[in-house]
Amino acid sequence: MVNKHPKIVNLGLIGCGAMGSELARSVQRGEAGPASIIALFDQSASARNRLSQELNRCQATPLIEANTISELTQIDKIDLIVECASQQVVTDHAVNIVSAGKSMLIMSSGAMIEPGLMQMVMASAEKSGVSLYIPSGAVGGIDALRASKHLLEEVTIISSKPPVALSGAPGFAGWEDEKIDEPTVIFQGSAAEAVGLFPANVNVAATVSLAGIGPDSTQVVVIADPDSPGNVHEIKATSTAGLFSFRFENRPHDKNPKTSFLAVLAAVETLRSICQPSLRVGT
Ligand SMILES: NC(=O)c1ccc[n+]([C@@H]2O[C@H](COP(=O)([O-])OP(=O)(O)OC[C@H]3O[C@@H](n4cnc5c(N)ncnc54)[C@H](O)[C@@H]3O)[C@@H](O)[C@H]2O)c1
Repeated sequence: MVNKHPKIVNLGLIGCGAMGSELARSVQRGEAGPASIIALFDQSASARNRLSQELNRCQATPLIEANTISELTQIDKIDLIVECASQQVVTDHAVNIVSAGKSMLIMSSGAMIEPGLMQMVMASAEKSGVSLYIPSGAVGGIDALRASKHLLEEVTIISSKPPVALSGAPGFAGWEDEKIDEPTVIFQGSAAEAVGLFPANVNVAATVSLAGIGPDSTQVVVIADPDSPGNVHEIKATSTAGLFSFRFENRPHDKNPKTSFLAVLAAVETLRSICQPSLRVGT
């Protein structure tokens, strides 16, 4: 049967910063298929107002500005909540969100490698009959890692960034006053160890580890490179199915240099595959 009028998927957005704003603009341009952001929340009132005013200029029904995440979660019409805020939001609210019958798309995937959290959220989602989605983010190759999960022997992700992109991370604290004039290894260890040390940078490693051999076995190398052309991620995997290597030199988003262009595109593509499920290539 041809579905001439696909159901519009109603979205709620948590986090109106770099990622959330670009994602919202893409949804409004129709790039995620039949989807509409109907409500949003950000702990910063100015971020929230700025985005809702911008989106309201191009839509007939004004957005609902929620005052808390719990209030957003209680909005009946919302089918799926998009998290673009922080790992803390996922830790504190993911179970409640899926228990309230909302599917959830998680950008702060680093939270999901906290011991026990994934199991708790999955159990609640299954009970409510909803789904969890973690986009591939600023890298690719996730499909190959997922497909060969049980055959993987080693997975390493090497992330090179200009020192300024690492500044502020607890794992970079001892380097803040150092002059770094050549590529320098700042961290080498498991994805589980990296998560607390590089919270803003570790989502990619978390996603790779969730798709593959898990956070304790996935190796992470963080390099500060003053000549890095941007945020560069290399994934190397050995398995009985073959040797895989993937390299991503990400460009910042042209409208929002704080976020990688590819991470926004990947999130929009995940939303599109949810909202318009008739075409799936490579999944
Ligand atoms: N998976 C990936 O590849 C990938 C790529 C980019 C960003 N991210 C993650 O997505 C998240 C958003 O990234 P961004 O670049 O938009 O960051 P950002 O700092 O530009 O925006 C985050 C927004 O969330 C809001 N926020 C933070 N904590 C909140 C809370 N407790 N309640 C409500 N609002 C809250 C902030 O006020 C801010 O407006 C981050 O956790 C980031 O690490 C993941």
